[in-house]
Amino acid sequence: MNSRSLSNRKVLLIVGGGIAAYKALELVRLIAKAGGETRVILTEAGAEFVTPLSLAALSGHPVRSGLFHPDDETSMGHIELSRWADLVVVAPATAGLIAKAANGLADDLASTTLIATDKRVLMAPAMNVRMWLHPAVQANVARLKGFEGFHGVAVVGPDEGEMACGEYGAGRMAEPAAILEAIEGLLAAAGRPLKGRRAVVTAGPTFEPIDPVRGLTNRSSGKQGYAIAAALAELGAEVTLVSGPTGLNAPAGVKRVDVESALEMQAATRTALPADIAVLSAAVADWRVDTIAGGKIKKGPGGPPTLALIENPDILAGIAAPGPDRPALVIGFAAETSDLEANARAKLSRKGCDWIVANDVSEGVFGAEGNAVLLISADGTEAWPHQSKTAVARTLAARIAEHFKDPA
Ligand code: CTP
Repeated sequence: MNSRSLSNRKVLLIVGGGIAAYKALELVRLIAKAGGETRVILTEAGAEFVTPLSLAALSGHPVRSGLFHPDDETSMGHIELSRWADLVVVAPATAGLIAKAANGLADDLASTTLIATDKRVLMAPAMNVRMWLHPAVQANVARLKGFEGFHGVAVVGPDEGEMACGEYGAGRMAEPAAILEAIEGLLAAAGRPLKGRRAVVTAGPTFEPIDPVRGLTNRSSGKQGYAIAAALAELGAEVTLVSGPTGLNAPAGVKRVDVESALEMQAATRTALPADIAVLSAAVADWRVDTIAGGKIKKGPGGPPTLALIENPDILAGIAAPGPDRPALVIGFAAETSDLEANARAKLSRKGCDWIVANDVSEGVFGAEGNAVLLISADGTEAWPHQSKTAVARTLAARIAEHFKDPA
């Protein structure tokens, strides 16, 4: 699924005038490799940086640039181009193109298409850092992002780094691979198959206090759970993310409830019910301190304190237990350091959940960007290739959508 993630999907790519335009060539190649089709609009300024010939050769279609070319307009006019596309991508999006789109100025083919389209638009800004940070550009970007519904403009990047002009800062166009990932996300979301479904996701570690300044916690970063919450929201689900302490920002469109301890996480997860989907990915502390000291525990002649621990409730087992509030699909995670599949399968039946996403944490998963997981259910085991946590999340969200389309 991953290698042909854009099968038959159509991208209308607008290439603006900037040095990053050369990366548009790689983007067209990546879209083709993923099974997608690209048609290109090259602005007059863009043509100063890349030739129409290279873009035509890579996309397999003639490149459009003018608004008033009778031949072009009769073969596929600008309205038809936008009708043809599933998604419009602007890369590089210059300050000028962003300003035109934000203010409805339509004076060439690229800007006219951006106003005429009813498709989602993805922009990959690229400009000098001072231009990017200019309040006028920031205001235009904020305005574009705020356009609701069909016209909601998504933005990828820009990255921070050394620039062609010799300066350093934010303004470099996102890499083609990152733009491709954003395209995949937006197209996957196009049908919003989980619209009307409610989901609760737990993520991150828990923090079990010892006294007012100390506590027990673990190395979970929360990245995988946050990515799952984002991927479910992308597909239209109404998502509550119950999060232990992490340094992450709440994904767009997700309701985040912050908690610290396992007991708080359990209460917040229950409050988020009823839900159709529960994905419990948090690394819940197995134990908590029996009696939390009211004041800071001081060093003393008696030596170090002995901490009496008691077991935390199993949130997953509780949510998965039969009852009127049990979500239709309950998914747990298994973090194992040995016998991954056997241990995870045992966990599936012990906890009573429907699926388990199993990963081997001996391989440095905590905090890492990538993950190789097994999806374990009563139907069997699937080994997914090593992929980014975002890709794991999207694959899982797509499987969840499939399940609800066609419940077993
Ligand atoms: N989990 C939970 N509540 C707990 C412990 C775990 O909801 N008190 C959930 C996790 O969110 C995860 C799954 O159970 O979805 C498995 O977590 P894991 O730490 O791998 O398993 P444990 O139950 O701790 O089992 P073990 O210690 O045997 O590995």
